[in-house]
Amino acid sequence: MHSSETPGASTRSLHADDAFNIVTDVAPPMHVSTTFRYSDDPSHLVPYADITSPGDPTVHVYSRASAPNPSRFEAILSSLIHGQSISYSSGLSALHSALTLLNPRRISVGDGYHGCHGVIALFTRLTGLQKLDLDCPADALEKGDVILLETPVNPYGTAFDIAHYAEKAHSRGAFLIVDSTFAPPGLQDPFLHGADLVMHSGTKYFGGHSDMLCGVLATKRDDWAAQLKSDRLFIGNVMGNMESWLGVRSLRTLEVRVQRQSDSATRLVGWLDGCLRVRDPVAGSDAAAVQAVLKEIFHASVQKVEGDWLKKQMPNGFGPVFAISMTEERFAKELPSKLRLFQHATSLGGVETLIEWRTMSDASVDRRLLRISIGLENWEDLRNDLARAFRELV
Ligand SMILES: Cc1ncc(COP(=O)(O)O)c(C=O)c1O
Repeated sequence: MHSSETPGASTRSLHADDAFNIVTDVAPPMHVSTTFRYSDDPSHLVPYADITSPGDPTVHVYSRASAPNPSRFEAILSSLIHGQSISYSSGLSALHSALTLLNPRRISVGDGYHGCHGVIALFTRLTGLQKLDLDCPADALEKGDVILLETPVNPYGTAFDIAHYAEKAHSRGAFLIVDSTFAPPGLQDPFLHGADLVMHSGTKYFGGHSDMLCGVLATKRDDWAAQLKSDRLFIGNVMGNMESWLGVRSLRTLEVRVQRQSDSATRLVGWLDGCLRVRDPVAGSDAAAVQAVLKEIFHASVQKVEGDWLKKQMPNGFGPVFAISMTEERFAKELPSKLRLFQHATSLGGVETLIEWRTMSDASVDRRLLRISIGLENWEDLRNDLARAFRELV
């Protein structure tokens, strides 16, 4: 829901970049130039040292600093995420830039996406950054340290209470970074619950079609946004023109894609959970097939929590990714090959449904675990495909 004064998310996805429409094309053109002509009018030439404000977002100098397609993409994201958004070449390069900005001495972090731990290890090598558990005592953190919270968490799709970790960080003068990749705008606004910096792997729902790499950081602080842009100029981890052009095209449909994916995932989880709960299932029924191979389902929709934080944090539905644990490793290994509509691949957030025997790309997980990212297929077809595949397994 949105008030009549503030346009809704889909309207902003279509119009937050209207100021960039400096040609008459309805579909934004792709600009490939790395460099841009200065004004022909000498009275309009401002030397670099004399520039005092960001200026006109449609004026560019060199594409490592800014370029038309990434700027357009960022304008839409800033409106959707409710914070100044800076785009990067990948989700991990966004995390690298967040840690470069804050340069903490300690980082408190849970299991989550294994690649983020690779970035942390890199900082440990360079700066001695110390890694602490997510639930370390608050007084283990000091001013300027960081809590990195992934919610919902990869690969399970279960959620953590953002407000709780914001309070913990702020009680010590530390900062909270929320990796909200699994719950894009529409499902979760981490700033509402106290996040200082919001991070996304835009490769997932922002791209939405499994065809572009991208990362995003968003902040409410002007000084941080300016520093992040300046750091990006020197690190050079900008998003490509082609990717940001695809990104704009994808953001146009973000809300409808994610709503549908979230709804379908929750329906499938509900169906699986219902099957697991049937007592003494009739031979040959869906419930009997599910119970023969499936041990546990992980998703925020079936997560038991104390209090009402989860409903407040995700009022419009849960993430489109969930995980299942099979009764035997061989079932997890064989299930993807029995499915027709679920493609066996890593990653998530695309229009196509993916399943991954998670041990294929993550050395740290139980070998009975499968991660599922629901796409835009009709959920009943996905359910029927799963039910058939479960029967074939036993
Ligand atoms: C939660 C989370 N954060 C960050 C990343 C890294 O993003 P990228 O692959 O775009 O670098 C991923 C990738 O899967 C992820 O799932």
